[in-house]
Amino acid sequence: MKRTHHCNELRLSHSGQTVTLAGWVHSRRDLGGLIFLDIRDREGRTQTVLDPSRLTREIFDRASALRSECVVSVTGTVQQRPAGTGNAKIATGEVEVAVTQLIVLNMAEVLPFPVDDPEVASKVNEELRLQYRYLDLRRPEMARHLRLRSKVAIATRQFMDEQGFLEVETPTLFKSTPEGAREFLVPNRREPGTFYALPQSPQQFKQILMVAGVEKYFQLARCYRDEDLRADRQPEFTQVDIEMSFIEREDIYQLIEGLLKRLWKTALGMDIPTPFKRISFEEALNRYGIDKPDTRFGMELVDFSDDFKGSSFKVFSGAIAAGGVVKAINAKGMAGATQGQIETMTDYAKSFGAKGLAYIKVENGEWKSPIVKFFSEAEKQALTSKLKISEGDLILFAADQWLNACEILGKIRLYCAEVLKAQGKLEVDGCPYHFLWVVEFPLLGFDREQNRWYSSHHPFTAPVADDIPMLKSDPRKVRGQHYDVVVNGVELGGGSIRIHQPDVQKTIFEDLLGIPAEETRLRFGYMLDAFKYGAPPHGGIALGFDRLIAILCGTPSIRDVIAFPKTAKGTDLMTDSPSTVSPRQLRDLYLEVKAAKKE
Ligand code: AMO
Ligand code: AMP
Repeated sequence: MKRTHHCNELRLSHSGQTVTLAGWVHSRRDLGGLIFLDIRDREGRTQTVLDPSRLTREIFDRASALRSECVVSVTGTVQQRPAGTGNAKIATGEVEVAVTQLIVLNMAEVLPFPVDDPEVASKVNEELRLQYRYLDLRRPEMARHLRLRSKVAIATRQFMDEQGFLEVETPTLFKSTPEGAREFLVPNRREPGTFYALPQSPQQFKQILMVAGVEKYFQLARCYRDEDLRADRQPEFTQVDIEMSFIEREDIYQLIEGLLKRLWKTALGMDIPTPFKRISFEEALNRYGIDKPDTRFGMELVDFSDDFKGSSFKVFSGAIAAGGVVKAINAKGMAGATQGQIETMTDYAKSFGAKGLAYIKVENGEWKSPIVKFFSEAEKQALTSKLKISEGDLILFAADQWLNACEILGKIRLYCAEVLKAQGKLEVDGCPYHFLWVVEFPLLGFDREQNRWYSSHHPFTAPVADDIPMLKSDPRKVRGQHYDVVVNGVELGGGSIRIHQPDVQKTIFEDLLGIPAEETRLRFGYMLDAFKYGAPPHGGIALGFDRLIAILCGTPSIRDVIAFPKTAKGTDLMTDSPSTVSPRQLRDLYLEVKAAKKE
């Protein structure tokens, strides 16, 4: 019995036809002597009905023994459902198949969790879902994610092809690189003590491809990073990785805006406005307290340093005297914040080294706060007008060094937005997707603990040309030609124009990052060499493909859009990996395990 239709296909116009469906028993209901089997396949579901008066006893008994998720093939005649029994929620809801033949292709045991009820399934513990991922993926919601991911991958390839890009695969057995995250190492059995490393990204290969004259490269590349995992981070993930020669930053902005426009149209049928807004790193921190601002709502950070520099409230005037700033946000409608919520926010402030978190609750026409008594009329006036204070507001302050004050309020701003959103009180912009380019990052940051410079993006990022003379004299001031694309507060991707002059690259490695010359030679010698033989100016970007899909699917976790993700501990619960290996395998690799477990 070969399948003739899928389970989302039959309509009234098929009435009278003999059809064969194959799939899983979504549900079985025994009613008035009849058995109703809903058959589900990848496309949808169809109701079938077994009437004992029109079937052999054997077939009817077979149906009686079925439970959810058994695999069957049914043949029968399409008929209109009796009046009043239609199901408007499914596409095949007007018809049913009157079964004449039923083949049980496989039985299923009782499932560890139901897959047919979205309400129940959404409450199932995620570990159980990951252990039985093949069942979890049968849920229509997860199936929709996989389908959308496939569609978007294909649309990406199509778009990049239209733009003249070549898809080139680069090795995943690579060597140790300095991109930032800890690496996964692979021991080399042929030479004890040597290792491959899994690539954190194809960064170096794609730059070499530019030297090789490829000009326009892209890849849906698998990347590996052994870092702390969160909802938006997996140890292995996918990038839409891109590199181009003879271009400037503007070319990348245009390309990515075009790509995202196409993908939003393909996936959601939505036209997103381009070009995207641009904001400098400094402005992003100043106004939103973060380098990936969520601009769907306001609640911007406002500076009060001028207003409070002579204040009798010493926490504020003292911070300003010490070279810091006083900044505040107005969380409109949050005056009723609970003690617990205030404590959570205070803990955020303390985690950045602040002593506390000053705040004012505006309730019953009064400013409720122990610090208000220190404020002058002029100070109160400045707060009222700049923060547009009114009844029900909660004003939160940070008095600290600029970066710290920004970051504290940036974190608190997001927390308040979440609280207000849950209460239906967050005023949001009508446009559901806010795209932004964050630009003008500093090329380098300074690690006070280790007393050395580090690359804000990665060491291949080119300085802004005008700033090159300051590389040695005033590195802090040097801007990088680096850009991030952000949507709704998520860092979707980042990239840069690269250094293509071997001498500038060497200066960055050796003079600024302090990598000894011999190590530079060992790690990047091949790159510095390649740059000597005619390296074109080039630049690129990588978009986090999992994050992109999660945003398109409207889910907060990239685990929901990866077929077989790892847990926060980096384990795969289905295959029980990582696992131990045999002593013989270890011997072959010249490895010895000293301590089985650290903890
Ligand atoms: P970067 O490190 O910024 O740049 O990575 C680019 C994008 O990849 C995504 N991403 C991740 N997604 C899931 N899990 C992770 N652990 C993870 N880490 C990063 C993010 C991020 O914006 N080679 C450079 C790009 C370039 O310069 O062209 C790079 O990898 O969405
Ligand atoms: P204190 O004078 O230390 O008791 O602090 C007075 C108020 O200022 C308290 O509500 C503290 O939580 C708050 N506060 C202390 N340090 C800071 C800071 N760096 N930024 C904002 N508020 C602070």
